[in-house]
Amino acid sequence: MNTKTAATLSAAASSQDEPTLVVDQVSKDFGAGNAVDGVSFTLEKGQFLTMLGPSGSGKSTTLNMIAGFLEPDSGSIKLRGRELTSLAPEKRNIGMVFQNYSLFPHMSVVRNVAFPLEVRGVPKKEAISKAHKALELVELSARAGFSPRQLSGGQQQRVALARAIVFEPELLLMDEPLGALDKRLRESMQIEIKRISKELGATVVFVTHDQEEALTMSDQIAIYNNGRVEQFGTSEDLYERPTSVFVANFMGESNLVQGKLSQGMLRAGSANLAVPSDALRRFAEGTGLGMILRPEQVLISPEHMAGAAGASMPGIIRDVIYLGTSYRYYVSTDAGFDVQSRVPRQHEHSTLRTGDRVSVSWSPEHVAVVPALQD
Ligand SMILES: Nc1ncnc2c1ncn2[C@@H]1O[C@H](COP(=O)(O)OP(=O)(O)OP(=O)(O)O)[C@@H](O)[C@H]1O
Ligand SMILES: [Mg+2]
Repeated sequence: MNTKTAATLSAAASSQDEPTLVVDQVSKDFGAGNAVDGVSFTLEKGQFLTMLGPSGSGKSTTLNMIAGFLEPDSGSIKLRGRELTSLAPEKRNIGMVFQNYSLFPHMSVVRNVAFPLEVRGVPKKEAISKAHKALELVELSARAGFSPRQLSGGQQQRVALARAIVFEPELLLMDEPLGALDKRLRESMQIEIKRISKELGATVVFVTHDQEEALTMSDQIAIYNNGRVEQFGTSEDLYERPTSVFVANFMGESNLVQGKLSQGMLRAGSANLAVPSDALRRFAEGTGLGMILRPEQVLISPEHMAGAAGASMPGIIRDVIYLGTSYRYYVSTDAGFDVQSRVPRQHEHSTLRTGDRVSVSWSPEHVAVVPALQD
């Protein structure tokens, strides 16, 4: 076998096993500091990644570099092992959906959807027939001949989705595609997008501001902060094992109890709190730490019934809020810090009132330990 054939064969073999998308140390500076700063992550075929983070944290810039609308200053982006950085957008086999649907107003719905195929040189008849199939998938066949102006926001968004998937891209990028829709439509589109991407076996990168949307849709979540990926993992990883206060706050409600690590315990106010043993391995004596406690993991009982399990702290209820399915209690502990507890309504806690003495408790394995916030 000559070396050329061997090289070709090994390239073919490896491209089968290659992850769909590898973003490696990608950076972009528009002149005001790094907009994207050494971002790396890997996606396997069929995975659904959501990028979540504050405005200006670099999500769209990352997406635009993957799509090819922006060139990275450094780093590499590979689609099934093939380097993309110098490849034109239309050669990348990537579908993109933007927040503003950007449909062509003078073309019918079906022509809009056929457009990316025509750009790629597919004969018109075949392009139109594939466009009809894509419209079927988004359940808009009945609107094929309409002008985009005759469609609702949600329908226009579905046309944009059909247009992004019509050429069967290996990767689908969606930049806040549901941002303009009202809550109900948003929720039904979330389920639609999830269904369609599973049906196509598509690998997806999806951007949103909305934490619940991220939890609903994703296999993986990347939390962006200031041009960097602060944490990358499954929804459970990020919710249950955040590695920073920033991530914990982005992924729903949490209590933050801060203190110092002292003789294997967290000294917070006048209390010594048990910490999970892995935290003792990760942090040195004397380190300033924060304990992240989700409100639903904090148990609350009348003081005289204080349970024996785990940490148990006396305190006083400062406020009770009725949330329909649950109650939220704001408790000031005698140790000097405040915690919130959320209790499902069927637990019959409605007898607890503001001003009552209570005992709050949690088990140390439900605690995530992170570096303390610097002030
Ligand atoms: N074309 C550009 N020229 C100059 N600066 C830019 C450009 N595009 C983005 N930036 C800057 O890069 C940073 C990251 O912007 P980016 O659009 O990626 O944020 P984002 O996370 O998508 O925010 P949002 O949630 O508001 O959409 C911001 O500080 C922004 O001002
Ligand atoms: Mg953006």
